[in-house]
Amino acid sequence: QGVVMETCTCTAPVNMAVIKYWGKRHKDLVLPLNSSISATLDQKQLRTKTTVAISPSFEDDRLWLNGIEERVDTVRIQNLLAELRQRSIEQQSCPQEWFSWKLHVCSENNFPTAAGLASSAAGYACLAFSLAVLYRLRGDISDIARRGSGSACRSMYGGFVIWDKGTKADGTDSIARQLYPETHWPELHILILVVSDQKKHTCSTAGMEVTVETSSLMKQRIRLVPDRIKEMTSAIEKRDFHKFAELTMKDSNQLHAVCLDSYPPISYMTDVSRQIVHMVHEYNKLKGQNKVAYTFDAGPNACLYLIEEDVAEVVSLVTHFFPPIGPTEEFYTGLPTGSVALD
Ligand code: PMV
Repeated sequence: QGVVMETCTCTAPVNMAVIKYWGKRHKDLVLPLNSSISATLDQKQLRTKTTVAISPSFEDDRLWLNGIEERVDTVRIQNLLAELRQRSIEQQSCPQEWFSWKLHVCSENNFPTAAGLASSAAGYACLAFSLAVLYRLRGDISDIARRGSGSACRSMYGGFVIWDKGTKADGTDSIARQLYPETHWPELHILILVVSDQKKHTCSTAGMEVTVETSSLMKQRIRLVPDRIKEMTSAIEKRDFHKFAELTMKDSNQLHAVCLDSYPPISYMTDVSRQIVHMVHEYNKLKGQNKVAYTFDAGPNACLYLIEEDVAEVVSLVTHFFPPIGPTEEFYTGLPTGSVALD
C-alpha cells in the first residue's frame, strides 16, 4: 500500500525595496508604519525553492532550510500557518482531514541567507505560496506571506510592487499590489555586491523594535514617507532614472540613519558599504546626473540600480575598486521579472 502524501514545489524571487519598510504598528499581524515600494528580481539569479508535503504518516511538523533542520515553533511560522489554515477552513478549499496531517517543509536559497539580501522575503513568499497551492486557496495571499516576514508580501508579484500600509486594525487592507509590470521599464537593471555573506548581527524585527522605541528621527521619517511614495510612483511611471535614483539613495540613507539614531545604535553598513556609497556619488558627479543608485537593507550588501547601457562600465568600475576575494562574490541580475511560480 502506497504512502499518502500531498506535495507541492514552488520558487519565489527576492525583492529589493527602493522605499523601505522599517517599523511595525502591530507586531503579530505584521502591520507596517509606512507603505513601501520594491522591484522583484529575476528568479534565475536569486530565488528560494520550497517543497511542502503533508502526510498522515508524518509525526511532527518539520522544516529544513538549506539542508539544516530549523525550528517550526517560531511566532512567524506559526502565525503564517494559523492564517493559512483559517482561510482554508473558510474557503473549504481542501479535505478536512488534511488539517490534522503534519507538514514537512524543505527550502533552499541559491544565495547567502540572512545577510541582508531579502532572503526572508523570498523564503516566506515561497512558503505561503506553496502552501496556498497545496491547500488550494483562492484569492490574494500576500497578507499570509506578510505574517512570516513583512517584505515577503511584495515578492508575490513581479515588476514594481507597492505594499500599502493599510488603515484597518485587522490588517485586511495591508496588502501588496503590482504598480507596474516587469515590461514597464525593461532597461532597469540591478547589480548586487555581496560585501559579506555572514548572517547579520541584528535581525530586522529586533532592529525595527529598537528604532520605533528609541529613535526621534524615526518620527520624522514616518511623516516624510507618504510624499516619497508619491514621488517614487511618479518617477517609476515616467521612467525618470535620475529622480528614481535620488529617492532610492535618500531612502536607504534615512533607513540607516534611523538605525544609527536608535539606542543602542544599530549599524548594518560596513566600511566597504560606505566606500560603495562614495564611489556611486563620485561616479554620478562625474556623469553630471544620477546613473547609479545604491540601496542597503538590514545588512552590508549593496544593491545597485542602473540602466542596462551603463552595466558594463559600472561592473568594470566595481571590479577595479572592489576586486572579488575569497568566498565573496558579486553578481548581477536583470530586473524585473515574474512573481512566485510553480516549479
Ligand atoms: O521583512 P523583514 O521583516 O525582513 O524586513 C525587511 C526590511 C528591509 O529589508 C530592511 C526593508 C524592506 O522594505 O525590504
